Amino acid sequence: MKAEKLEELKQIADVCTKCKLSTTRTKVVFGEGNPEAELLFIGEGPGRQEDITGRPFVGKAGELLTRLIEKAMGVSRSNVYIANIAKCRPTEDLKMEKDRAPDLEEVTACSPYLLKQIEIIQPKVIVTLGNPSTKFLLNTQDGITKLRGKWADYKGIAVMPTYHPSYVIRNGGENSQVQKDVWADLLKVMEKLNWEPKVKIKWK
Ligand code: URA
Repeated sequence: MKAEKLEELKQIADVCTKCKLSTTRTKVVFGEGNPEAELLFIGEGPGRQEDITGRPFVGKAGELLTRLIEKAMGVSRSNVYIANIAKCRPTEDLKMEKDRAPDLEEVTACSPYLLKQIEIIQPKVIVTLGNPSTKFLLNTQDGITKLRGKWADYKGIAVMPTYHPSYVIRNGGENSQVQKDVWADLLKVMEKLNWEPKVKIKWK
């Protein structure tokens, strides 16, 4: 049931022309994972690899996110759901060279797809990765540094904002304080979902 509804929505998104990103994209990156997922990750928008493959979080940032999900949380990537606010790759001057965050016009055009995905999946927990998805979903101007690690709410669904994996990579990557912060946030998520973490990391 959820799978069919998501597939129907994907077919609409796949031919979307609601914003200028549709003129430069290679593929629409709708999102992927378990339609029955208890946990939904929301990123910003596709990068180069995602635009080429049509799959979310498969580039450098995706490798880190996948490691966190599979090696640390101990669940398969296919058991959770991974999506973005922007379904098409936003780049500076639409040159398809340097990635950028989606602008307000793009978020306004594209966010109904994300909201519908949330409505269909009805996850128990949403993890927002970085500023754009956090600010959008929580309807706030507060930044991620202030909001991360604290439970918030979207229509009765628990939301845990944390840093975007690209930000982790830019700020020391593996074993950096920023990654420890992300792991601390994900531990709270697992506690809420009654999931046992696979690795006991005593980062403080
Ligand atoms: N960054 C994102 O926010 N989303 C992706 O899918 C890839 C990189």
